[in-house]
Amino acid sequence: MGKVYVFDHPLIQHKLTYIRDKSTGTKEFRELVDEIATLMAFEITRDLPLQEIEVETPVQIAKANVLAGKKMAIVPILRAGIGMVDGILKLIPAAKVGHIGLYRDPETLQPVEYYFKMPSDIQEREIIVVDPMLATGGSAIEAVNSLKKRGAVKIRFMCIIAAPEGVEALQTAHPDVDIYIAALDEKLDDHGYIVPGLGDAGDRLFGTK
Ligand code: PRP
Ligand code: URA
Repeated sequence: MGKVYVFDHPLIQHKLTYIRDKSTGTKEFRELVDEIATLMAFEITRDLPLQEIEVETPVQIAKANVLAGKKMAIVPILRAGIGMVDGILKLIPAAKVGHIGLYRDPETLQPVEYYFKMPSDIQEREIIVVDPMLATGGSAIEAVNSLKKRGAVKIRFMCIIAAPEGVEALQTAHPDVDIYIAALDEKLDDHGYIVPGLGDAGDRLFGTK
């Protein structure tokens, strides 16, 4: 079963409170999502492998660590996932970025794929799929299905707010995928919205409502 990690760092929780607030406007919402993504990227990269090199300081030669150069890919689920990409790239600038276009059919809540573009060596990369919201889990499950169909094997999922229903569905469908979240909310409402959540992440990021 995939593990669930909750990043409850005070800075993340503080910023999360303000993206939940319905009076937070588009500009500030976008900035906060970007900052939360950076802070979550800091946490999710804790286990990156290091290699020792020699560095010449003004005093002497020292042994010191640098990142071992793991190949990574950030994969946002469009649209809302785009809001997290730059924040992550601030810490992992060499990562490649793939895109999966999915929207939830408002009637059936089923995900509909409309775009898929990955780096050519996606099979070899350590992948972090990102989306601010994990609600029913349908979009995340479909995104991981699409990646696995193209040979991807090392996949993690990172979102800001998750509903218990979505976590369970993703864990059941993809037990090999660990899930990283900033908050585990109470439940879904009858329209598949997370309660208390933050509303529609895509609309709030892009000012489309
Ligand atoms: C939202 C959100 C997720 C999805 C989560 O996207 O960004 O992708 O819903 O819901 P689920 O877990 O029930 O699938 P939406 O479909 O509203 O598209 P958008 O990002 O283009 O607004
Ligand atoms: N998608 C969103 O943007 N918000 C929700 O609460 C559920 C799905």
